[in-house]
Amino acid sequence: MRPKFKIQNSKGRQAVSVPPHARFRRLRYSPALREMTAETRLHPSQLILPLFVCAGRGVRRAVPSMPGVFRLSPDQIVRDLKEAEKLGLRAFILFGVVDARQKNPSGSEALRRNNVVCETLRMVKKAGIRMAAITDLCFCEYTSHGHCGPITRLRKTDVQTVDNNATLALLGRQAVIHAEAGADVIAPSGMMDGMVAAIRFALDRADFQHLPILSYAVKYASAFYGPFRDAAGSAPGFGDRRSYQMDGRRRREARLEALADLEQGADMIMVKPGLPYLDILRDLRETANAPLASYQVSGEYAMIKAAAKNGWIDEECVMMETLTSIKRAGADLILTYFAREAARLLN
Ligand code: PBG
Repeated sequence: MRPKFKIQNSKGRQAVSVPPHARFRRLRYSPALREMTAETRLHPSQLILPLFVCAGRGVRRAVPSMPGVFRLSPDQIVRDLKEAEKLGLRAFILFGVVDARQKNPSGSEALRRNNVVCETLRMVKKAGIRMAAITDLCFCEYTSHGHCGPITRLRKTDVQTVDNNATLALLGRQAVIHAEAGADVIAPSGMMDGMVAAIRFALDRADFQHLPILSYAVKYASAFYGPFRDAAGSAPGFGDRRSYQMDGRRRREARLEALADLEQGADMIMVKPGLPYLDILRDLRETANAPLASYQVSGEYAMIKAAAKNGWIDEECVMMETLTSIKRAGADLILTYFAREAARLLN
């Protein structure tokens, strides 16, 4: 038997007895010790800033459900990126916002060479911003029905859903258009099967062999996307996205999705949402060796902002705690609307 240490209370009587080595608190007493033993570290270069771009000049339209997030015209995107670059952020991801008049069933605005996303990419490059420009590749912001590609009616069953293969062809074209306008990374988010292969093929054929793909490989159908859909005006007009986004009750399927995308040529993969899917993130960390990203989505951001506004939680602490958790679960990169605020704290 291991000898027990006798611990005396203030009256000199024995209170408890513990083995002498069980003193985890030794490394917690000072900030220096805590800092030097921290296994998980956040750095601004690991944070990716999502930005919403809309038409116009000098436009900064607040998103009510996402305090601190704005829909910006291209000139304002450039302005914000200059600031973000100074904070040490190395990448941003761009989402296009168009008004209802520009939408149609196929989302053809997404394929126009002078749409807001392309216009912004060119302005950003011209302004000498060296952050990596990632573009979200999807049609839900551009289709009149709000789904992620053109709709088809499945023969015999009468089910209406997104036409997978028709969408693949369109995604290839959209990727090349983004590449031509200056995108540095293409990030398909529509959960079409085969999307990575189709985009890789289209990019290579158009002489963009060097452009990496960050695939939203593991994207669950989630109510946490609500505020984003307000911001981008991309809520589905009928039904939901459960026939193409993943079911939260399936864990093992995440590995299938991730490996399939890597086989098709994805350079980086993403899990989305963040905090509610940390187990999935950890699974993928252990399955795949490609850089792994996690998206702390709009609803996660909105909840923290709302609770903080009520004085119910400490915003800065909760923000850092959630980002640290995502990092600890296995993310190399985190897409977060907190990117600037977190970078400011980290600097
Ligand atoms: C587009 C897309 C969505 C998000 C990122 N890309 C919305 C959706 O799938 O409905 C959500 C991001 C967020 O909630 O912050 N397909």
